[in-house]
Amino acid sequence: MKVAIAGFGTAGAARLIAYRGIPGAEVVAVADPSPRGREQAAREGLRAYESLAGLLASHDVDVVDVCAPPAFHRELSLGALAAGRHVICEKPVAFRAADAREMARAARSAGRLLYPAHNYGFSPMMRLLTEAAQTVGSPATALFRIQRQTHARGVGEWSPDWRRDPGIAGGGILLDHGSHCVYMATRLFGGRPGKVSATARWQAEGMEEAIDVHLSFPGGTADIELSWVGDSRTNRYALAGPGGSLDLTDGVAVLTGPGGREERELESPTQSSTHEEWFADMFADFAALAERPDRWARPLDEILSTAQIIEAAYASARLDGQPVTLQQG
Ligand SMILES: NC(=O)c1ccc[n+]([C@@H]2O[C@H](COP(=O)([O-])OP(=O)(O)OC[C@H]3O[C@@H](n4cnc5c(N)ncnc54)[C@H](O)[C@@H]3O)[C@@H](O)[C@H]2O)c1
Repeated sequence: MKVAIAGFGTAGAARLIAYRGIPGAEVVAVADPSPRGREQAAREGLRAYESLAGLLASHDVDVVDVCAPPAFHRELSLGALAAGRHVICEKPVAFRAADAREMARAARSAGRLLYPAHNYGFSPMMRLLTEAAQTVGSPATALFRIQRQTHARGVGEWSPDWRRDPGIAGGGILLDHGSHCVYMATRLFGGRPGKVSATARWQAEGMEEAIDVHLSFPGGTADIELSWVGDSRTNRYALAGPGGSLDLTDGVAVLTGPGGREERELESPTQSSTHEEWFADMFADFAALAERPDRWARPLDEILSTAQIIEAAYASARLDGQPVTLQQG
């Protein structure tokens, strides 16, 4: 498959490295409005264009991998789909449920796959949580606690602090890292929560620097606690069910279950922010799905449910934590 990368900053450059390890995938060109991005692409031996439209007019690529900041995901994805290309899009694919629905309709009518780069779904943490959910029985509670001392910074001269600009990021840590926790939770609980509540610490209008989100599923609850102003960088995932529990803190897992207590250390650390090592499995999933439009409901619905839950959490946080009922489907 021939691939174009739209947005050649931190995520785009990491993606190029990841593609170079995948037989059958070749990055041929990059679109990036910043001269820095285009110069870096040229140094990598790639053709570089100021706009995706210019790139698509010159290259017959199969896939556009959207690695630009969030505000551009909708427009770049719709442009690529309309031009007959499959799309892999970085998170958050859509800020709003309405955008997710529009993008899914565009994919269906173009007959091209819109696939979310939900790479934490292929992380060792998710594998362990999935394994634990099977061991402990239906999860009753789950916890995702992601603490950072600050947000990640973008590259070079373009806009390194776009994550604190609601016009570009769409929101704060919930849309940024929180997107991962939301789809991990819906995968573990097998669907959408009925109710969502949240309390936020706002930095400015529409921009939270810390947020606690509570998801009430039919069979249990998930808590997502996120901060850009924590004391240290830590990642904690926990799960408990009738048959035991898992506590996974910074790569060290403690599992308790019918067989007793087991401690494990995960091989892949979560200290790199781009996780190239998880990409091959995600790309294999994308490539298999691209051939099977009958299976596109899964990725398209996950884009929608993630946007719906985040939208509901922000609505609840604006109401000081009042629960918001989630539309199903
Ligand atoms: N899934 C993950 O693990 C992961 C990790 C890092 C970033 N991301 C996501 O990747 C996206 C980009 O984040 P980043 O950290 O690489 O940002 P960045 O600031 O490092 O890079 C952004 C790049 O996009 C370019 N750009 C801006 N507008 C554009 C447009 N209209 N078309 C094409 N390119 C454009 C900029 O010039 C810059 O080169 C975000 O959605 C972010 O959430 C995901």
